[in-house]
Order: sequence, then C-alpha cells, then structure tokens
Amino acid sequence: MTKTCVITGASRGIGRAIAIELSKRKDIGQFILFARTEEGLKETVDLMHSSKNIDLHAIDLTNYVEVSEIMQMVGVRYGTIDILVNVAGYANPKSLLETSVEDWEKTYRINVHSVFNITKEAVKYMKRSGGQILNVASTAGSSARPGWLAYASSKAALISMSQTLSEELSEYGIRVYCISPGRCATELRKVLAPDEDPTTIMQPEHVGEVVNRLLSDDGICLDGQNIVVRKQVVKTSTPQAIK
Ligand SMILES: NC(=O)c1ccc[n+]([C@@H]2O[C@H](COP(=O)([O-])OP(=O)(O)OC[C@H]3O[C@@H](n4cnc5c(N)ncnc54)[C@H](OP(=O)(O)O)[C@@H]3O)[C@@H](O)[C@H]2O)c1
Repeated sequence: MTKTCVITGASRGIGRAIAIELSKRKDIGQFILFARTEEGLKETVDLMHSSKNIDLHAIDLTNYVEVSEIMQMVGVRYGTIDILVNVAGYANPKSLLETSVEDWEKTYRINVHSVFNITKEAVKYMKRSGGQILNVASTAGSSARPGWLAYASSKAALISMSQTLSEELSEYGIRVYCISPGRCATELRKVLAPDEDPTTIMQPEHVGEVVNRLLSDDGICLDGQNIVVRKQVVKTSTPQAIK
C-alpha cells in the first residue's frame, strides 16, 4: 500500500517544489494539495509525476471547520494520513508601530493557528500507524528581524510547536521535523526583500530536495530540531585578464 501525503501552500513557491520532488517517490501514491488558488494548484499537478492520485482543495486554511471536514474525508477515503507537510505562510513585514491588530491576527491565523488545526486533524489518522509531519518555519523565527515582528514571532511559535509535538507524538511513531529556510526565490521573498535579485539566492527546488531527504525512510535522526536550510549561490563572473 502506498502512502498518503498532505501538502499545504502547494500552489507555488516552496510548497510546489516539495510536491514535485515528493511525486518522484514510489512509496507515495496519494497527494492532497491545499492552497486558495485553484489555477496554481493545477499548474503544480501538471508538473508532478503523472502516475499519482492527486486531490486538490482550493480553500483558505483559516476556514478551520471546512479544512477539518476535508481532512476527515481524506482520512476516511484513504484510511490513513502518512505525511503532512505544512508549508503555507503569510508575511507582511512591518514594525511594531505600523502593525495593525488585524494584520497581527492574520499572520498568526495562517502561520500558526491553521497549522495547529490541520495537524490535529491529521494526527487523528496518523496515530494509527505512525507517520511524519514537516513544518516550514524560517530563519526569521530564531533571530531578531526588526521590521518583521508578526512574521518572525509567528515562525518562532512554529519552531516551538514542532519541538513540543516531536516529543508529544513520538509515542504514536510520528516524527515531527521543522525546517527553517533562509532566503529563497519566491513571491513571499519578494514581499520581504523587493529589491533583491532572485537569481542570487536559494531556489525552491533546493528546499524540495532537503524535504525529500528528511522524509525518506532511512531513519534520519533530525526530528525535533530546527533545521536551517541555506544554500550559497555562487555567481560566476567573467575572469579578469591576468596582467
Ligand atoms: N521564500 C523565503 O525566503 C522563505 C524563507 C523562510 C521561510 N519561508 C516559508 O516558506 C513557506 C512557503 O513560502 P514561499 O516562500 O514558497 O511563498 P509563496 O510562494 O508566497 O507561497 C505561499 C503559499 O502559501 C499559500 N497560502 C498563503 N496563505 C494561505 C491561506 N490563507 N490559505 C491557504 N493557503 C495559503 C499560498 O497559496 P494561495 O495564495 O494560492 O492560497 C502559496 O501556495 C512559508 O511558510 C514561508 O514563511 C519562505
């Protein structure tokens, strides 16, 4: 029997790259992809391995009740949920005095509360035979980022949640991983650093490869830790003439 894998934030960026990378694996047969944009989800499916059974759910993850209902349907239909990858995220970089209560709450609803909600639903099925959860936090969650208060602190919450859940869920044979990517060329990064040249930083597929490695079956003992994922991008320049 093949595994069932749920991925959020799969309509573009890092979530899409993870979906494409994991679809190359023989042991995963079913994918359930979440994001709000149906078109983006369909584009991701077109890029995934064609042999897979893929369900798309174009929904806002902060619609907690509907998301819970979908997860219950997934659990009943496939009998279990083996892998959950929480990628969806939101950033609106502002200082303390510029941040509205509404935006603070929005950041936490997407980056923290929706992860709690979908993880709780997944674990109801995953605990029957074990599984893997991987949360995408950020290096912003473990170091000071003046001007990014809501985003950075929400990612710190996700790192902490991952560490606690790693210990709490180990009795069910569930491993919880947390990765903290550095700068990666996506839409979200453009919001955080609009003037940056995206060709000079890590690409989403680099993160996809790391996630695939972590979620392999060969017992990598990196669960429960905050794993920083950074790639040095070397720009080749025209060699200077030797004088
Ligand atoms: N790029 C970086 O430099 C970087 C660094 C560290 C960590 N990260 C983290 O990596 C994760 C992926 O980000 P990315 O860089 O790939 O950004 P992205 O390209 O902007 O992708 C964000 C994804 O989240 C989904 N999403 C956002 N709000 C949602 C909501 N309310 N309901 C459902 N889906 C929602 C988006 O889909 P829809 O818009 O279609 O809903 C999209 O698929 C985020 O958690 C981010 O914090 C990124």
